[in-house]
Amino acid sequence: MIFLDALHGKNSARPPVWFMRQAGRYLPEYRAFRSKYSFLEMARTPELITEVTLLPIRLLGFDAAILFSDILVILDAFKINFHFEEQKGPVIEQPAQLDQISCGHVEDSLSYVQKAIKMLKKELNIPLIGFCGAPFTVASYLIEGGSSKDLKKTKKMMLHEPELFHALLKKIADCSIAYLNMQIRAGVSAIQIFDSWAGFLSHAHFKEFTIKYLKYILESIISIPSILFCKGSSVYATQLATINPSAISLDIYGNLPEIRKQLPSNIALQGNLDPDILYAPTHVVRKETKRLLDSMKNDPSYIFNLGHGIHPDTPLESVRTVLECVKSQ
Ligand code: CP3
Repeated sequence: MIFLDALHGKNSARPPVWFMRQAGRYLPEYRAFRSKYSFLEMARTPELITEVTLLPIRLLGFDAAILFSDILVILDAFKINFHFEEQKGPVIEQPAQLDQISCGHVEDSLSYVQKAIKMLKKELNIPLIGFCGAPFTVASYLIEGGSSKDLKKTKKMMLHEPELFHALLKKIADCSIAYLNMQIRAGVSAIQIFDSWAGFLSHAHFKEFTIKYLKYILESIISIPSILFCKGSSVYATQLATINPSAISLDIYGNLPEIRKQLPSNIALQGNLDPDILYAPTHVVRKETKRLLDSMKNDPSYIFNLGHGIHPDTPLESVRTVLECVKSQ
């Protein structure tokens, strides 16, 4: 299992490869499912979660599967209603009284995830990655009521009412621990925590509002390989390394060999191909993939991935080209 070997820093074969959002709209087969069901119908139905998680594995041959779900399904445990709109993304219905929310039993509210993992374990012969959103990023959706380009409301709350903000982060962290432990008990082989929007924070605030809770989560979950991702991870890699994840997933900005030198050798690196490169002509896709591979050649703990999720309009041919390049190493 080269993916798990790389996470443990002992992969002597080619680097393993998977993509964030690999089970998504760039696949015609995914779009066919979406013409019949809403995203949330799919994400709440174990049989559909299983089918869609397996799509990119069967069609393209990635080395790890990631559970088809979303970081926002944890809101089901808080009984907070939300939906996805075509152009807008997530919409939180009636923004909650943030000092009053509480997380119920995840085994009840998120049982569909547990069932899907158990079904997937029977089908898969490669590792399955479970995941959740980080407290800061999930909190930002609750406070903004959906996606935001500047997180202004979130940062104002953080600055005006730090105690309330910390209490909210702690509640989400506790719920995430229960949720990840449920996923681990059900059989995932590794977990990834998505702190997509933590890059909006300054160095000191990153430590206070993000690192603190990521550390708490990593220390509280059942022992399993862990990957931390945030947009801004190339700036914050050394801070993220202090809490000892198995791997850090790098955004597109940093130079991997340089980051490698700054980090302890027991921390694996994942990333950081710019997803926009997949819009390029095939020979450029090949050249850029090879450039990244060469820069991490013979690294026993490198996992090939994108710097962020794959775009819905990515040409399938580019994905095939990347996989072909990585696998011919
Ligand atoms: O990686 C995978 O294939 C697993 C599934 C996965 C999804 N979302 C499926 C999804 C994962 C790991 C996520 C994480 C997620 N969700 C993040 C963190 C990663 C990142 O991209 O920064 C965030 C911020 C979200 C929140 C979210 N979900 C947004 C903002 C949107 C709308 C934008 C968009 O891409 O449409 C979603 C919807 C979503 N989550 C889709 C998928 C496949 C598209 C839904 C559709 O089919 O219409």
